[in-house]
Amino acid sequence: MVEYLRSSFLKPDIAIDIGTAWVRVAYGAAGLHAVPSLFEGRNALRAGVIIDRDAVTAILRPLLKRVRRFGVLPPRVVACVPSDVTSKEHDTVRECVLKSGAANVCIVPEPLAAAIGGGLDVASPFASMILDIGEGVTDCAVIRSGKVIDMHASRVGCAELRRAVIKAASRHMGQFIDRNEADRLLRRIDVGNPMHAVLPGNVAPVRPDEDVYDWSRYREALEPFVEKILGVAQAMWRQIKPSLGCEIIENGIWLSGGGSMMKGMASRLEDATRIKVNTVANPLEAVVRGAHAMLPIITILNGWTK
Ligand SMILES: Nc1ncnc2c1ncn2[C@@H]1O[C@H](COP(=O)(O)OP(=O)(O)OP(=O)(O)O)[C@@H](O)[C@H]1O
Ligand SMILES: [Mg+2]
Repeated sequence: MVEYLRSSFLKPDIAIDIGTAWVRVAYGAAGLHAVPSLFEGRNALRAGVIIDRDAVTAILRPLLKRVRRFGVLPPRVVACVPSDVTSKEHDTVRECVLKSGAANVCIVPEPLAAAIGGGLDVASPFASMILDIGEGVTDCAVIRSGKVIDMHASRVGCAELRRAVIKAASRHMGQFIDRNEADRLLRRIDVGNPMHAVLPGNVAPVRPDEDVYDWSRYREALEPFVEKILGVAQAMWRQIKPSLGCEIIENGIWLSGGGSMMKGMASRLEDATRIKVNTVANPLEAVVRGAHAMLPIITILNGWTK
């Protein structure tokens, strides 16, 4: 810890979550800054993968410059990647962070960071399971005694859900809706079990023209993608050992990421697994807050590379 305090005084340490929708930076005692993963209208990532290195560097550079100690000393950066990242994708993240002005970098898996940032007791000898539903990736991990025991990810997330909403609007209602409108609708559609869900017609319209939306069509369009997302947790659940399963039943499944805030998502997973599902207190920030909390241990274990 003394070593951490000494070295972090000289090199400010920060955490960065380079997400498909948002780049989030955690710094200092509780600082957090988020910017869209867009540069000059270009998406920097798709499905959790950097597709435009220059755009990522252009987004990160000013963020890293802001946190320089005395305006000159570059920060060390812990960055998060999906758990199924390829070595090439891993290297791209490393290179982009270093090129953006980091002194050193350490890469950690997103679901582990989400679990720590979401307040799960990752050091417990009893396993817990987390599912992070992001913009482009749904990532699941089982964690016990501070270690990730199993991870499973699929490149599906809110982006597919939004695309499905846009398609359904055009196909069934002859309406063109943009990304923002699709996102607004996504926050209103209940993807829970139809048996339990509030019937779409009973949802009070927020705007007078909203009753033109045929909510059941949207639900139908979202269904294959919701199943794909839930399938990530179900696939993990099927492959874990029974002893771990008992511990997870005890601790429940935890959700994080923007997709976890969709109406009915938690209850839907509960129905599919018959395990209690909870959403962490800060679903959007859990990954970057957790990565930031890992900084002292990374320094103690000398996990930094250039
Ligand atoms: N309240 C909400 N209800 C439904 N969806 C939401 C809500 N808030 C955010 N979202 C969705 O979550 C998405 C962003 O999620 P998140 O910030 O976890 O993604 P990300 O970390 O950038 O992506 P990834 O981890 O997949 O690379 C938004 O694009 C939006 O569609
Ligand atoms: Mg994310």
